[in-house]
Amino acid sequence: MSSYVVAGASRGIGFEFLRQLSADPANVVIGLVRDKAGSEKKVAAEIGRSNIHIVTGDFDSYESLKKAAEETSKITGGKLDYLIANGAFLSYWSGTKTFGMMAETPEQLEEHMLNSFKTNVVGIVHLYNLFLPLIKKGNAKKVIAISSGHADIDLVTEYDLDVSPPYAISKIGLNLAVAKFSAEYKSEGILFMSISPGVVDTSQQDMSQLPEADKKQFEKTIGIFMKYAPHFKGPISPEESVRMVTDVINKASVERGDGGSFVSHLGTKQWI
Ligand SMILES: NC(=O)c1ccc[n+]([C@@H]2O[C@H](COP(=O)([O-])OP(=O)(O)OC[C@H]3O[C@@H](n4cnc5c(N)ncnc54)[C@H](OP(=O)(O)O)[C@@H]3O)[C@@H](O)[C@H]2O)c1
Repeated sequence: MSSYVVAGASRGIGFEFLRQLSADPANVVIGLVRDKAGSEKKVAAEIGRSNIHIVTGDFDSYESLKKAAEETSKITGGKLDYLIANGAFLSYWSGTKTFGMMAETPEQLEEHMLNSFKTNVVGIVHLYNLFLPLIKKGNAKKVIAISSGHADIDLVTEYDLDVSPPYAISKIGLNLAVAKFSAEYKSEGILFMSISPGVVDTSQQDMSQLPEADKKQFEKTIGIFMKYAPHFKGPISPEESVRMVTDVINKASVERGDGGSFVSHLGTKQWI
């Protein structure tokens, strides 16, 4: 029996983690979400398993995460095996400057950069600090951040990947935060690691409805992905991604030297 917290579990990859991890009835799976009532309804309708608990937890609110840690502690008896920080602010602005370093206005750029940093870095650092006492008492002691291949500087420079700068910059910050946690807690046997889930089909955006400039940029990005990985045929499903990421988590250990590392769903530096 293992206990899991999936933070940012309302939809997409996070929701799929709830589905797959709860398949073993011996597991206790806690999903942190912003809209508790909505997620409880969705879990009941689409998964319907009593070993899933939905708890309110917003990366943008320290108080909310503190309460989430307290509530989790009550459910698990003061300990936790796995913490998966999945949620993210996905910066996106529409218009002619959608994908470059320049937004429509400097205010818009600042808003997106600060929001990305607040949610994707500060929020996850708060989450980790608040849940650490539970992780220390757990058996597995594994803390995972869902990052992104966009945070690989070599990929960006070699392939001129100019998409989503605020998001990519925040994910690099996240990876370094993970490395710092690992540097501090590896000696206590706690594994901290960043894992990219691959290119995953979770978008609710109808691509045909995008403005022309955005469509062009989107096609350009797909072209870059195909140049980088000629085998790329399109996004993988959340089901496949979560299966592969879980396999990476299960194989990883402090003893194997995985502490603080940043790898893909393939367990390597191949992002697609
Ligand atoms: N999909 C991909 O191709 C891909 C590629 C690389 C990396 N990733 C990473 O994989 C993770 C999941 O992505 P996804 O594609 O599943 O995204 P998604 O479908 O857009 O879901 C994002 C999740 O993050 C949650 N979230 C957003 N802001 C939050 C906050 N302040 N506090 C708590 N939760 C918050 C959302 O909750 P609400 O419902 O409340 O908004 C939602 O559950 C992200 O870290 C993303 O960066 C995805």
